[in-house]
Amino acid sequence: MTDRIQQIRAEAEQAITTAADTQTLENVRIHYLGRKAELPNLLRTVAELPAGERAATGKAANEARKALEAAIEQRALQLAATELEQRLERDRVDVTLPPDPGVHIGRLHLITQTRRELEDVFIGLGFNVAEGPEVETVYYNFDALNHVPTHPARLMTDTFYVEPGEDIFDPTTLLLRTHTSPMQVKAMERQPPPLYIIVPGRTYRPDNDATHTPQFHQIEGLAVDTDITLADLQGTLLAFARAIFGEAREVRLRPHFFPFTEPSVEVDVSCFNCTNGITAGGQRCPLCRGEAWIEILGAGMVDPNVFEYVREHGYDPEKIQGFAFGIGIERIAMLKHDVPDLRLLYDNDIRFLEQFG
Ligand code: PHE
Repeated sequence: MTDRIQQIRAEAEQAITTAADTQTLENVRIHYLGRKAELPNLLRTVAELPAGERAATGKAANEARKALEAAIEQRALQLAATELEQRLERDRVDVTLPPDPGVHIGRLHLITQTRRELEDVFIGLGFNVAEGPEVETVYYNFDALNHVPTHPARLMTDTFYVEPGEDIFDPTTLLLRTHTSPMQVKAMERQPPPLYIIVPGRTYRPDNDATHTPQFHQIEGLAVDTDITLADLQGTLLAFARAIFGEAREVRLRPHFFPFTEPSVEVDVSCFNCTNGITAGGQRCPLCRGEAWIEILGAGMVDPNVFEYVREHGYDPEKIQGFAFGIGIERIAMLKHDVPDLRLLYDNDIRFLEQFG
């Protein structure tokens, strides 16, 4: 009888090692250790055997059962591990694949696109980008920029003051900057000449119509060095106008007034939509209104009075000169992309924004 037990055991052990998957192993277990299998049956009937055989048979059968149970358990663990490996391999997801259907990731806002385009032009000309705070003091926004106390831009109707009721002539009173020009003085306080910077950023004025929004964006330009002339300003702006509006552009400087530049100019670019104010279709050009020129920015030579505020920082008006300009980013975007109303840029209607970039 013990021979038969050894035979079953050997057979079962062989089947266990060769079982290639969990299901086959389970079949092997049922076949050799299940309720109807020979070995367990034998164990149940040990008591009926002749007394001489009982002990040896019982022992052998019991050992065989334990050995097979252990072998099955071990093989089961092995198979589970390999099967998990295989499943992970099979179900692997390549997270780098593009989604299908594709996901719409959007684009930069037209104002941001335009700002970056302008920055690239001036960086190419050797300017550095500086940024300043949107909340400024009366000192930097007006006083140090040579605004007389009676200048109308200082009025509550033209400037957002942070705390209502504060003294608008106190240099420390806070306001939302009405232009990026306060950074002219701040940059000069921080760094001696030569200085070549542009300052992009948000600006604020209490206006609201088709060409004005209470919040808008400017890029300030400031160049201070020795032997800087109005011709340098004109050349710089010509390069900018051609880079943005096309190689055939010209610029024109008209006399104007700003408190912090002397002389001051308004700068026009030759219209890119017509010839001498007449469109290709023979109509009066709607873009320049038949003028052939479009106003694009304000500029001028830095007023020596402004340098007086930063004289001790290395800006002696007898030794250095500078030019400055201020560009409205929205205005450039509107001209370039034929946007009829400035407020469209702030409505955030996706059907409008999707048209750009
Ligand atoms: N700060 C002026 C404005 O906002 C523009 C300007 C900048 C003019 C620099 C001259 C020099 O209108």
